[in-house]
Amino acid sequence: MSSDNWRKEMEKSMQVQASLYPRVELEIKSANNNVKSQIEQIKDFVEAQVDVLIVSPIKSKPVTTAIENALKAGIPTIVIDRKIESNNYTAYIGANNVDIGEDAAKYILSGIREESTVVQITGDIASSPAKERQLGFESVLKHSKKVKLLATIHGDWEKPSIKAPLNKLLDSVNPDYIFAHNDRMAIGGWEVLQQHNIQNQVKIIGVDGLYGPNGGIQYVKDEILLATILYPTGGAEAIDLAVKIVNGEFVNKNNTLNTVVIDSVNVDLMQNQFNKLVEQQNDIEGQQEVIDEQVRAYQSQNSMIKLMIGLLILLLALALWSIYSAIKISRGKRKLEIINEKIKTQRNQIKKFAQQLKVSNESKINFFTALSHEFKTPLTLITSSIETISEQNKALAGESSFEINLILNNSRRLIRLINELLDFRKLETDSITLKPRKIDVKEILEHVLNDFKLEAVKNSVQLKVKYSKDPCFLWIDVHALDKVFFNVLSNAMKFTPPHGKIEVETIEEVDKVKISIKDTGIGIPQEDIENIFNPFVQASNNERPSSGLGLYIAKQFIELHKGTINIHTQKGTEFVITIPKGYEHLQHVEIYTDHINSIVRDQEPLKRSEYEVLALEPTVVQDYFPNLLIIEDNMDLCRLLVKQLKNDFNMYISNGDGAFKKVLDLIPDVIICDLNLPETSGFELAKKLKEDLRTSHIPVIILTAMADEDSYIEALTAGADFYMTKPFQMDALKQVLKTVLYNKERLRYYYTNKLDSVTSTDFDKEEQDFIKKMNKYLLNNLNNPEFSVEELARGLHISRVQLYRKVKAILGVSVSDYINGLRLEKAQELLQDTSLQISEIAYEVGFSSPGYFSTAFKNKYGMTPKHYRG
Ligand code: FRU
Repeated sequence: MSSDNWRKEMEKSMQVQASLYPRVELEIKSANNNVKSQIEQIKDFVEAQVDVLIVSPIKSKPVTTAIENALKAGIPTIVIDRKIESNNYTAYIGANNVDIGEDAAKYILSGIREESTVVQITGDIASSPAKERQLGFESVLKHSKKVKLLATIHGDWEKPSIKAPLNKLLDSVNPDYIFAHNDRMAIGGWEVLQQHNIQNQVKIIGVDGLYGPNGGIQYVKDEILLATILYPTGGAEAIDLAVKIVNGEFVNKNNTLNTVVIDSVNVDLMQNQFNKLVEQQNDIEGQQEVIDEQVRAYQSQNSMIKLMIGLLILLLALALWSIYSAIKISRGKRKLEIINEKIKTQRNQIKKFAQQLKVSNESKINFFTALSHEFKTPLTLITSSIETISEQNKALAGESSFEINLILNNSRRLIRLINELLDFRKLETDSITLKPRKIDVKEILEHVLNDFKLEAVKNSVQLKVKYSKDPCFLWIDVHALDKVFFNVLSNAMKFTPPHGKIEVETIEEVDKVKISIKDTGIGIPQEDIENIFNPFVQASNNERPSSGLGLYIAKQFIELHKGTINIHTQKGTEFVITIPKGYEHLQHVEIYTDHINSIVRDQEPLKRSEYEVLALEPTVVQDYFPNLLIIEDNMDLCRLLVKQLKNDFNMYISNGDGAFKKVLDLIPDVIICDLNLPETSGFELAKKLKEDLRTSHIPVIILTAMADEDSYIEALTAGADFYMTKPFQMDALKQVLKTVLYNKERLRYYYTNKLDSVTSTDFDKEEQDFIKKMNKYLLNNLNNPEFSVEELARGLHISRVQLYRKVKAILGVSVSDYINGLRLEKAQELLQDTSLQISEIAYEVGFSSPGYFSTAFKNKYGMTPKHYRG
């Protein structure tokens, strides 16, 4: 309500009392003497559905409805100190204010002997205590003749409200007593009296009797007030009442609190009692605090316990989880162990198999190596015998010298391949021990270059050498280095075209010597560089015969010398070999005294003829021979075939480069074709030939070393007419050539004689289509004497020469003879089936004169057209 000391005392006593009930929760709202606020606060409590509402109504009337509504809402309501204007509340508690007014009047009456005057100061007259106190006071005075009520000032319970009116009043009256409805206004009165300096003449009686420094009891003691009437707040009693109501206990509707007049007679006693009361209250509060402390301790311990229980549960859960995980992991581990065990066993098995395989492989390789060694002796014998024969037959030209050279070249090549194979094997098994000796690098290079000079001159390749000034000594195994330089130079020679250049240069540096071998050949494609030293791998543009081991062996030998071999390629190729000086880097250096001249190499530089196309075209072309084109990159084989077949065929050769164009230019009668060709494979070439109208009629015989079934099927699918594997028998090849040409001849017969009835699938569809297309074209233009072979070729989208060769190949006659034949056949038909004049028929089938028609007809059918019609 307000925050004066009396109200504070009321709140305090409520709090102390409530603290005695642990289950009671007390909430106090102060409206600060504002009625509207109080009404709002009542509503708020009603909405909050409090268990009991205690209200001290600021003013009676305006608060009445709010309290009635609270009751209607089912909330028990206790009215305290001040009353409302209805009985609709649960209980009222407070002192009897009429009695207080009467007690005040009676106290004045009891203390006077003569007539006295009194001024009354009321509280807010809209509140019930003010009305009742006035009522009680005046009702007693009404019957007294001794005491006269001079005036009544209406205050509002607070000091300031009475000061001005009292001040004014004292100007006109001089009272003996002042009765103020509370101590606060009484002190206000005393202050006004002081202003008038009559404070000792006027006796003041107040109400409330509060304990404490600014309370009524102290003022009585200080003789400022004559007396004060104790007006108990009733706070503690209200709480007790509320508890009873909540507990459903019976309570009285009106609960009156006792009052007593405190004056100089009983003030000490009262103060003592209050002191005790306050002490007790303090004790209670102290205990309460201890209890609160304990409650807080209990609560914090309680929450601690809860937390610990929670943690314990968590710990337990974690423990369970760990046990579960441990079991799972151990199971997983067990599984893994089993798998591991299996893998181990499998690995051991694989190891064992691999070992067995290695052993078996080793023994196989050893067997083949031994066998290769064995090949060397007979081959060397063959080579040296054939060299002797060659020497003896030097004078002989032609026939036998060709075969002798062929045998010599190929046996040398075989020896070279076997040597590379044996070197490779030795390198693979680390069974090469270098025998280094100190030698001028120039000496060994000269030795190798010497062997290439003749071949270089023959092939118009310039061989340039440039040595560093001083002799340049290296510790090297001369046999190994001889092979290195030989292989690198062979490679350079192989790829350098006629009129190209090979430059060899030595560059001496402080701790090493560089040897550069540079050619102006085709170079090595960038993507092949890293594989160039791999055994069995050849550069993609290298279709020349080789084992693929040469450069690998060279690199291995250089590395055995702790040197390097590098390759640079752009225009041409440069190999740079670097060998360290001295011998510290070499193991087991012994002084070997091998002289360079002791190097006997069973290798000779590759003869260019082994890999280059030679002009082998027939010098004299026989008209009656079929044209045979051999597409093969082994020139020795080409030579052999030419030699063996040139008596029956006009022989033409292609090494595979631009083979298709060559076929188009030539339109041969038959083709022998290898499968491994530089540009396009034999499969692709055969397919291309068979798909092209200009070449589809040409029989293709595949002659290859690939004896597997897949290649055979692929070649036939591509359109090859025959598949023959190397080595082959020349007689068999001749027979095959005969057969394919005979079949063509048969076909030709069908085409020329029964073209319309040809349905047999024995004959190539492309050719049937070609002939049908050509016939249709010719029949459409038959009556045109101007119609030319050029026009026909144009119509069929091929060249005149190709048309001529194709028709000749398929039909065996020239195009013009064929056209004439067709005209005459048509004329024959017209003579038989129509009654056209002979001259008309002649023009109809495209003859420019009837006379020429008759002669031609007679030449073909042995009688004149007239005769024929007979
Ligand atoms: C306190 C007060 C007291 C008086 C009571 C009457 O607010 O003014 O001094 O006795 O109210 O309700």
